[in-house]
Amino acid sequence: MADIGTEREKVKKDIKTLLDLEREDFEVLFVRALDLKQRYKRGILDRSLTGRTLGMIFEKASTRTRVSFEAAIIQLGGTPVFMSTSDLQIARNEPIKDTARVLSRFLDCIAIRTYSQDHVEEFARYSSIPIINALTDLYHPCQILSDLLTIIEFHGGYKEKKIVWVGDGNNVANSWINAASILGLNLFLACPESYSPNPDVIKNAKATGVGTITLMTDPIAAVKDADIIYTDVWASMGQEDEVALRKKILGPYQVNQKLLKEASKDAIVMHCLPAHKGEEITEEVLEGPQSVVWDQSENKLHMHKAILETLILKKNIKGE
Ligand code: CP
Ligand code: NVA
Repeated sequence: MADIGTEREKVKKDIKTLLDLEREDFEVLFVRALDLKQRYKRGILDRSLTGRTLGMIFEKASTRTRVSFEAAIIQLGGTPVFMSTSDLQIARNEPIKDTARVLSRFLDCIAIRTYSQDHVEEFARYSSIPIINALTDLYHPCQILSDLLTIIEFHGGYKEKKIVWVGDGNNVANSWINAASILGLNLFLACPESYSPNPDVIKNAKATGVGTITLMTDPIAAVKDADIIYTDVWASMGQEDEVALRKKILGPYQVNQKLLKEASKDAIVMHCLPAHKGEEITEEVLEGPQSVVWDQSENKLHMHKAILETLILKKNIKGE
């Protein structure tokens, strides 16, 4: 007879990076997220996660990821438990592997936002429940899942679309590179040499032979005929000391009206937010007709619902 006990014994699935997913997993998540979105808009109350509990361990600030995960689990009938690392015994040196094993006995899933990707990997290794990376210095996988949903909505799909990353080759860019090597994306990255994406991430993605990943330093050349222009802050969380140098080097990578003119006429502009208007993007572009940032942000809610359902209920996903 199936019960929570036997369900817990099934192979659990984590999203430590997008490389934990296969192309089919992405498709399952897109279909379910769009379905959940439409149902939510029609006022249908889905309660698929009644009685389930999502732990959220956050060591860095967050508005969108935190609130959308909290709203997602609540709207699906479950409960979030938010934990700041400074309040946990981790802050007093309790090992991650002990914390992971204990919290696995209380919760159904944990989303973690922290600095070190290794900490997420270690947490996942020792926990018996799904672990979701809610951003590390290296990756931001859930962001790209909801961003692809936005691209599907605005462009009808992501295949054959020219996606151009402009600016700092950061955690979000690294996850885009992962996605390109799974989904076969046509991805361009225009970054200064000193702020290129992680070289191992690029090397491993290129080694798959899937997708096209083109690194450039000239943003104007890169965005030519782009369907999607994507940018992010020049200094990510944890890089506050580097702000002045980064502003100087990344200045030519601002997404402004002049740059946008080089792109396809129906190009959309994306930004994971928070944005620093007047730095990586002008107010004119962020608030302009080609910007989809508010829809993009909303989709975090719908995608996070699909992720939680899929991982907690172990539905149709690799590892089942
Ligand atoms: N895009 C994103 O992850 O935003 P937060 O830092 O506000 O969660
Ligand atoms: N690259 C940014 C993303 C914030 C959602 C950061 O890590 O701060």
